[in-house]
Amino acid sequence: MSNKFYITTPIYYVNASPHIGHSYTTIAADVLTRFKRRVLGKENVRFLTGTDEHGQKIQKAADAAKLSAQSFVDQTSQQFRDLWKSLDVSYDDFIRTTQPRHVKVVQKCLEIIFKKGDIYEGKYEGLYCTPCETFWLEAQAVGGLCPDCHRPVERIVETNYFFKLTKYQDWLLGYLRENPDFIKPGSRYEETLRFLELNKLNDLCISRPKERLSWGIPLPFAPEHVTYVWFDALVNYISAVGEFDARDNYVSKWWPAELHLMAKDILRQHTVYWPIMLHALNIELPKRVFAHGWWMLNEDKMSKSRGNVVNPLEMVEKYGLDAYRYFLLREVPFGLDGNFSEEGIIKRYNSDLANDLGNLVYRTLTMVEKYFDGNIPDLKLNGSTKSVAEILAKIEHLPVRVFSALDEQNFSLALESIWELIGMANKHVEETKPWNLAKENKQEDLKEFIRLLVDVIRAVADKLEIFIPQTAASIQEQFVGDKVKKGNPLFPRIETKKK
Ligand code: MSP
Repeated sequence: MSNKFYITTPIYYVNASPHIGHSYTTIAADVLTRFKRRVLGKENVRFLTGTDEHGQKIQKAADAAKLSAQSFVDQTSQQFRDLWKSLDVSYDDFIRTTQPRHVKVVQKCLEIIFKKGDIYEGKYEGLYCTPCETFWLEAQAVGGLCPDCHRPVERIVETNYFFKLTKYQDWLLGYLRENPDFIKPGSRYEETLRFLELNKLNDLCISRPKERLSWGIPLPFAPEHVTYVWFDALVNYISAVGEFDARDNYVSKWWPAELHLMAKDILRQHTVYWPIMLHALNIELPKRVFAHGWWMLNEDKMSKSRGNVVNPLEMVEKYGLDAYRYFLLREVPFGLDGNFSEEGIIKRYNSDLANDLGNLVYRTLTMVEKYFDGNIPDLKLNGSTKSVAEILAKIEHLPVRVFSALDEQNFSLALESIWELIGMANKHVEETKPWNLAKENKQEDLKEFIRLLVDVIRAVADKLEIFIPQTAASIQEQFVGDKVKKGNPLFPRIETKKK
């Protein structure tokens, strides 16, 4: 087990504003970062995100905005940093592919691989989708359309540089077979393995002639060409945390990454191109690549090119940040697709946050005030009845259950186990009927009852800090030493009009 944790998100294209899909990966990474900081200490955790700023799409967007490419990317990259701030995303480093630290490492990588003979000059002829900046095989571009965005592809012939992926196909297959945990979820591992077993890789075209595209990093050995965006972008994971020494060895305190997070749209780049690039550079592979599913809107992937994006800030304004974070992580098992809807958020909000969590906190603090003048009863609990014993056991096991789920990137399961405890506590209130204990003047029973609920809430708030830090803080603020200071209900119910 490694005693450090280096986690990354994709670096996002700055040709468009961030939407819910981008926020999903980044919030997931934030949660894993908060979890690992707790286990390993803040100084042993590194959370990298950033922006992918080169390439044709971005050049086009800058042209359309009548700005120079650089000032365009300066503005749009800032939008991502602003959004992460609003979403309580606690990244440690933000890399931009236009930064000198990145450009330097990309050029070094190209030089090393070129010297080694794994990059060569050749003629490229193929079907190209300009908006997606992707070459497609004849078989993929059915009807002359890009399989991704469904726009027409163009036939292009030009001199370019190629990276010898073919040379490493067998090595990669061997590596994957020996490391079944390298790609998660398992379905994506199988998919990658099948792909490599059934297809012969083509060498990867890693350059673009400058006359077609100038907004990129020049190849050090052929400056009339710039680097293909994917070759440039993937390198961010190493350029942010290390450098090459005089003997071309990569040196980094953080590498290898424990986890690269992304959605399934960019699985292939991370499980085929990237491992082969690293191997050619004689650099260790990341420990794990996790490709989660897509947020869909009405059965279609949410994406800028399909024009069906939802702005995260709008949702946060309407429902609050923590309801938004909670919904994303709880609604869909990480790895599967999910349909995004406001009705879905409202449902989760009213049931899990208002009814279960908010209600437990509010009713408990009300009782501490009513029965004990705001003083938390001081006593050591033992399992005096079956249901008390069950709740105590649940509190005790909660850290293990939450942490082991998070070690498998299973956010919904981690949250479910917290909500199981909340549910047990609420049920215990209904079954115990504390108002009767008070009427019959059963002080000791009442003390035990209240103390148990307080312990539940504290255990819950402590774990919630990982997922919904603001809510955790506002619960914790209501406990001051051995007294309570009741605040407003955490999640006032959202009333929906009946049709
Ligand atoms: N720039 C490349 C990534 C380079 S990483 C070395 C890129 N950028 S992107 O802006 O298109 O971001 C893609 C990523 O954004 C996905 O992999 C995922 O993390 C997130 N998402 C974008 N749309 C999404 C959904 N509809 N649903 C879930 N996540 C989505 O690709």
